[in-house]
Amino acid sequence: MSYTTRPSSLDDLPAQAQALVAGESNRIANLANIAALVFHALDDVNWVGFYLKDSARNELVLGPFQGKPACIRIPWGRGVCGTAAATAEIQRIADVHAFEGHIACDPDSRSELVIPLLDHGDVVGVFDLDSPKPGRFSEQDARVLAAVAAVLDTRTETV
Ligand code: SME
Repeated sequence: MSYTTRPSSLDDLPAQAQALVAGESNRIANLANIAALVFHALDDVNWVGFYLKDSARNELVLGPFQGKPACIRIPWGRGVCGTAAATAEIQRIADVHAFEGHIACDPDSRSELVIPLLDHGDVVGVFDLDSPKPGRFSEQDARVLAAVAAVLDTRTETV
């Protein structure tokens, strides 16, 4: 497959993600490629990437991403990402300004979708997408991007 071709539809993303990670066990490489795939496939996103669990400090720490430089550490339970990590539930936020505790890394971000990344049921990080458009992420987007994250769930080998 070509890594530069835009998927013909959103629904193609999980299969494209699967193809990208097939045969590679390095977590950083896989997360970096998935961030790039999704960032370039979606319209109206300004940040797509990962935060990973730092168990020693009870925090999330910045992982591979596409977009502007971002906040490096997020306390477990804080902000949209920390909430997704602490609850293991997808956070689909239409207006980040209305989310108490939202952490504004890029002031352009207006809506956000965060999907917990699981390893055998334990949260090991989050997949975070930001948009400058309020209400950018639909339920369908959340379903498809959760399927992309699920591709990684079984591929969390240590680096
Ligand atoms: N807005 C996030 C922080 C991460 S950035 O969006 C890249 C939050 O509230 O957790």
